[in-house]
Amino acid sequence: MAATPPLSIEDRIRALLGAMTLDEKVGQLWLRQGDGGTVSDALRSAIRGGRVGGILNEVDPEVTRELQRLATEESRLGIPLLVGRDVVHGFETVFPIPLGLAATWNPDLVESCSRVAAEEAAACGVNWTFAPMIDIGRDPRWGRIAETFGEDPVLTGTLAAASIRGFQGETLADPDSLAACAKHFAGYGASEGGRDYNSTPLTERELRAVHFPPFRASVEAGVASIMPSFSDVDGIPATANPFLLRQVLREEWGFDGLVASDWNAVIELSVHGLTEGDREAAREAALAGTDMEMASHAYTDHFQSLLEAGEISEAHVDEMVSNVLRLKLRLGLFDHPQHREQIRGGPRLDLAQEAAVQSLVLLRNEHDTLPLNRERIRTLAVIGPLADEPYEQLGTWVFDGDPEKSQTPLQSLRQTLGDTTVVRYARGVETTRSLGRDGFADAVEAAQAADVALLFVGEESILSGEAHCRAELELPGAQAALIDAVERTGTPIVLVVLAGRPLALTDVLSRADAVLYAWHPGTMAGPAITDVLLGDQAPSGRLPVTFPKSAGQIPVYHAHKNTGRPPTPETVISIGDIPVAAPQTSVGNTSFYLDAGAEPLFPFGFGLSYTRFEYRDVRVSPEAVPLGGTVTVRATVQNVGAVEAEEVVQLYVRDPVASATQPVRQLRGFQRVRLASGESREVAFTLHTDDLAIVDRDMRWTTEPGTFFVGIGGDSRAPLAARFEVTG
Ligand code: NOJ
Repeated sequence: MAATPPLSIEDRIRALLGAMTLDEKVGQLWLRQGDGGTVSDALRSAIRGGRVGGILNEVDPEVTRELQRLATEESRLGIPLLVGRDVVHGFETVFPIPLGLAATWNPDLVESCSRVAAEEAAACGVNWTFAPMIDIGRDPRWGRIAETFGEDPVLTGTLAAASIRGFQGETLADPDSLAACAKHFAGYGASEGGRDYNSTPLTERELRAVHFPPFRASVEAGVASIMPSFSDVDGIPATANPFLLRQVLREEWGFDGLVASDWNAVIELSVHGLTEGDREAAREAALAGTDMEMASHAYTDHFQSLLEAGEISEAHVDEMVSNVLRLKLRLGLFDHPQHREQIRGGPRLDLAQEAAVQSLVLLRNEHDTLPLNRERIRTLAVIGPLADEPYEQLGTWVFDGDPEKSQTPLQSLRQTLGDTTVVRYARGVETTRSLGRDGFADAVEAAQAADVALLFVGEESILSGEAHCRAELELPGAQAALIDAVERTGTPIVLVVLAGRPLALTDVLSRADAVLYAWHPGTMAGPAITDVLLGDQAPSGRLPVTFPKSAGQIPVYHAHKNTGRPPTPETVISIGDIPVAAPQTSVGNTSFYLDAGAEPLFPFGFGLSYTRFEYRDVRVSPEAVPLGGTVTVRATVQNVGAVEAEEVVQLYVRDPVASATQPVRQLRGFQRVRLASGESREVAFTLHTDDLAIVDRDMRWTTEPGTFFVGIGGDSRAPLAARFEVTG
């Protein structure tokens, strides 16, 4: 007799829906805050009654085990719980903040970091992470830029897909996998003025061309869930925005996963001024396509009445519940609701160190100050508020990170340099924000006695992340003054900057002989920074975001439009060079700042190495390609310096004439290559004509025939010297 085939996921959903009461259905739509390490009677009875669909922020493995036991053994239908947590850049082992991970330009590494984070979190009973955050970050004032993969849709989309593969593994049903959540859909990074939660008055074209592509890439990578942003997107907050959640996500992209709100975002619809009270908020969010409500409970409180009044239908509720059940079934929770006892892979400090190494960006290196020559340095001064701060090197979103495991730069330098070099430590200032100068004298004395002064400056973790925005981007507190004081000793200065955002280093840059940008590197900051400072590894991180000269220059990013009056080197004049009583038109009419020029402090894609790479023979074949065909863009890259190192080879394309204007250049591909001293390699990128699509005048992704300019180089200044034609 033939065996009965197992029921499909959709059949199982139908069977469950058929057995559920309305209360049980609505219960599935609530993602409730945990009780913080215990299970209250209220929570116990809610789970037994089938009135909770998921729990967030509960990571005690005994507690999550008990919660799942209650759901699966003591509720009427035994439906398991989603257990959600912000596992953002590691769990117990902390990797660099996402902006630092993006500086690696290394999707395989990002995938591995997410995999390890998933294994560690899964061992505590977590089965869902609210990551990756894939908002486009073009405003360093915005504290959440730390959580982004930077300013570029292609880099972000590629790393988003990698991170999702890492979290979700080969199959979601693997007990070590977490359901990923691409967030925040969409445009949150455009919060006005870089102030968190602020409005995002974006045009549809800007949404489609810049903010949607990473989400599209995530859906294509099979992301399990999506979180709408907190923000008001052109007048309709994302949580109640049917254009985003129905038209684009479900209808255009065919997403069949779960849409879960952000924290209290349903009831905040009334604070935005879109709805009057929680009942109306519940209706608008539900009808727009938000399936599950995080934290607040407007759905649970008001669905009964909304159904009775015919304002939502039971079929609609069933669709929302199906999306929750589908995820639980995909995660295999009905078959193995309980987590493993052990972390599968064990701690991966080696990976944390490698990720931190690759995230470090060398911004300046006068007279080859770096790498430090350990034979010649007898005394090293280690100065600054971030040299020995186990917690502050971890960055934002590290609820589960263990600072006790952190290895700080001071510890690592002392360990590595041993007895051969004297390491003198002086904090200089208490915190990155302190204004007091009492510690300056010690710092100056340490620097005077040293061959080189290493200054660990920047921002503590609390100065970036959610709601932690800044109006100014200079080093906070007395740090610039500390650098001045140390500079006056005449000892060469190396700045190591730890921060959750690009800082405007304009004023301190020339005081330093070398500057290494470290973001918040995580658990293994110390060994990673030590390896690079001492030359055991060449720096290979590249900026995933443009560094402005000052906050006033924002927005500044590589893929900007040309305008009708672009600046040229000849037309950019500096404020100090304008003659007295200059006639109005004498300084020309082009687009730049009199006091900041047209160029940023450091361009997107930039980063130095301990060697130099040269590019030549950029060429395209064929030179004309019909729609639907492919072209290959090639260049020869050579390591012309003395040390082996990795380079991030970048491909930029420009569509100079289109039915809607296009950026002056766009990143279309990148590759990390390792080259020995003197070695040359041909790198090749294949572009399908679909990769050249733009959002056309009618808001459709279309490749328009015509000329394309293309270039390959080591940062976003690569000349676009080659060209090809797309023929119709
Ligand atoms: C609010 C944040 O916007 C979101 O990113 C996060 O996942 C939730 N809080 C849960 O912590």
